[in-house]
Amino acid sequence: MPAEIPARVLTLAGSSVQVFADAPTACLAAAGRIAEAVKASLAARGRAVLGLATGATPEPVYARLVALHREGALSFARVSTYNLDEYYPIQPLDPLSYRSYMHWHLFQHVDLAPDHAHVLDGTVPEAFAAEHAAQFDRWIAADGGLDLQLLGIGRNGHIGFNEPSDLSVDDARKLPTRLVPLHPITRTDAAREFGGEDKVIPRALTMGVAPILAARSILVLAFGPRKAEVVAEALRGPVTAEVPASLLQTVPGKVTWLLDEAAAHQLVYDSNLR
Ligand code: F6R
Repeated sequence: MPAEIPARVLTLAGSSVQVFADAPTACLAAAGRIAEAVKASLAARGRAVLGLATGATPEPVYARLVALHREGALSFARVSTYNLDEYYPIQPLDPLSYRSYMHWHLFQHVDLAPDHAHVLDGTVPEAFAAEHAAQFDRWIAADGGLDLQLLGIGRNGHIGFNEPSDLSVDDARKLPTRLVPLHPITRTDAAREFGGEDKVIPRALTMGVAPILAARSILVLAFGPRKAEVVAEALRGPVTAEVPASLLQTVPGKVTWLLDEAAAHQLVYDSNLR
């Protein structure tokens, strides 16, 4: 049996939920799905468009994609990528920037053209941030939309840096790419990287909910006990902008959650378990 077969597969709120023995196995599976999506899009239309995430969760996914590339099993030559977010303001060469993260974990290791690797620009003058964000959405559309969006989830339910809000579900689903303040929980969780909560850059440019939901397929990764509560809220709770990941329930059939046992712990296994 290949190592990346899930231990359990459920259907919850229109999403496929695949529970793996551990996070490394789930990451191998995620990289396999991404490689398959690239190959399918290349076969169908000669190019592929990926939405990418940063953070601790997907690091092993990028390591596996790089390994596949080195083995000659995956080329990024006809791939475009769009990252979910970037701190604002920040220099691209700042080691804390998501541009640096992508460089270290993926971009420098593969044959992705520099002008096809799109990360929101943390140096754009603030007066032009809205126009830059709108342009990012237009680039995605002009590229034919995202074939696959990779997501992590914040402890507060954020996807990208679309933070909890009191918007109506309809309004939240329409949110475009934009400049946002970070939620206190997000800042707490970033404190270690920045060397203290007060040092966390308090704003970011984030891909909006609308372009995320418009992706043709969405892969969400969540690992460890700290994510268990919010995973259960996103999949079992009501659809609400208070838990942005619950908005994924509004695009049934497109979303696959890849979890480890710890993150799946609060999902009640019932009759649709196999
Ligand atoms: C990162 C992003 C965030 C993270 C989330 C989880 O590009 O958009 O939504 O996916 O904060 O972060 P980790 O993986 O560090 O727990």
